[in-house]
Amino acid sequence: MTIALGVLGCGTVGQGTVLLAHRRAEKIQHLTGFRPYVKRILVRDLEKTRSPEIDRSKLTNQAYDILDDPEIQVIVETIGGIEPARTYILEALRRGKHVVTANKDLIALYGTEILKVANDVGVEVLYEAAVGGAIPLVGPLQENLTANEVTDLKGIINGTTNFILTQMSETGAEFADALAEAQALGYAEADPSSDIDGLDAARKLTILASIAFHARVELADVQVEGIRHITARDVQYARELGCVVKLLASGTDRNGRLSLRVRPTLIPLAHPLAHVSNSYNALFVRGDAAGDLMFFGRGAGSMPTASAVVGDIISLLRNIRLGVAGSPENRLYLQKRVVPDEMLYQHYVRFSVSDKPGVFARIAQLFGDAGISMETVLQKRVEQGQAEIVVVTHSIPAHRMDELCDALAQVQQVQKVACVMPLEALSE
Ligand SMILES: NC(=O)c1ccc[n+]([C@@H]2O[C@H](COP(=O)([O-])OP(=O)(O)OC[C@H]3O[C@@H](n4cnc5c(N)ncnc54)[C@H](OP(=O)(O)O)[C@@H]3O)[C@@H](O)[C@H]2O)c1
Repeated sequence: MTIALGVLGCGTVGQGTVLLAHRRAEKIQHLTGFRPYVKRILVRDLEKTRSPEIDRSKLTNQAYDILDDPEIQVIVETIGGIEPARTYILEALRRGKHVVTANKDLIALYGTEILKVANDVGVEVLYEAAVGGAIPLVGPLQENLTANEVTDLKGIINGTTNFILTQMSETGAEFADALAEAQALGYAEADPSSDIDGLDAARKLTILASIAFHARVELADVQVEGIRHITARDVQYARELGCVVKLLASGTDRNGRLSLRVRPTLIPLAHPLAHVSNSYNALFVRGDAAGDLMFFGRGAGSMPTASAVVGDIISLLRNIRLGVAGSPENRLYLQKRVVPDEMLYQHYVRFSVSDKPGVFARIAQLFGDAGISMETVLQKRVEQGQAEIVVVTHSIPAHRMDELCDALAQVQQVQKVACVMPLEALSE
């Protein structure tokens, strides 16, 4: 039996999805009893050059050619962004169509609304491709690991920032040059703010944390800090300390108290996340029964992301065959409180001071008064009359570090507290 798909968008992900669904049609028929065929594809520009494997007669720039087609039971949304994707998905659901989407922005911001409509109508919304590209994350957290209490999620889930930080680490480039290279190679968008300011990672973290902790987590619950202020010197000092700098997204559940953060972090070279380079993504998960797991792979790209989208299509078709597609279930059944991160971390702090006798003694006294001991101190002469000091503290809560930085900023000889990052522990 055939089943008609309507694909919204035919860019990087949409095109890969159309091609992969076509290539695997026979296998999918064996596995699910349905042979998928793409009936229509929505695009903005009908004249645009596309892969010769795309059948141009299927292209339309009228969304309702697809949404109003009663033969199309499954909508694959790969337009991206909020509007018109949100409207098209809601319209599709209200017409009783199942939806597979790769849209992290939409799921992170409007997931509650979309899943409620799907539940009310009795259809499915699947979104494995929204986080981690090819890496199966939603499925394992939602299905295979449900016997666990998941306590920790830690991940490198934004390929653009990981590419930039890898370039800075490997070539000594400054942030602006590494960003320009990422843009030239197509890893960063013309407006890179959502990636480099940590928002993209924060949106993905809300999706993962909601699933892992069985509680609705909102974007506003995530404390976010991007990588704009990281300099080549921070990356170099991190190396001297046996670490690399990564934009780390982390979520913890401590007895129902959730903490969620995205921030640049020093990762020791012996940690498996230190070796996740360039545009690769990885997620470390700790479950009480499973122990520690790490998922690693390509976080983006046409075929890697299509792999996740078509995987969702196959799960959906199997559920349709079994007659359970869209059966109501409430996975986010717990209420949990989001609290500031209460964990203890070692911290890296870099600040510049006047290069005068007695200044370091004054700084050391401030640390002492705050009850924060220094584990490592690097003192560098940067230019005439100005020195740069890097301190790695013993483990303290983040708020104590913030208080210390405020106190440092009050010292006349301290010119700037330039960078503060936590240092990830190797094991707990
Ligand atoms: N790229 C990745 O590696 C990746 C990885 C994981 C998840 N995702 C997610 O996948 C989604 C798609 O990303 P992408 O990289 O494939 O985007 P893309 O290459 O920019 O493709 C977007 C497609 O949507 C069409 N489109 C855009 N606005 C439209 C509108 N108003 N009406 C009709 N069609 C419209 C475009 O039409 P034209 O072709 O005519 O311009 C294009 O075909 C996003 O949600 C993204 O976050 C992407």
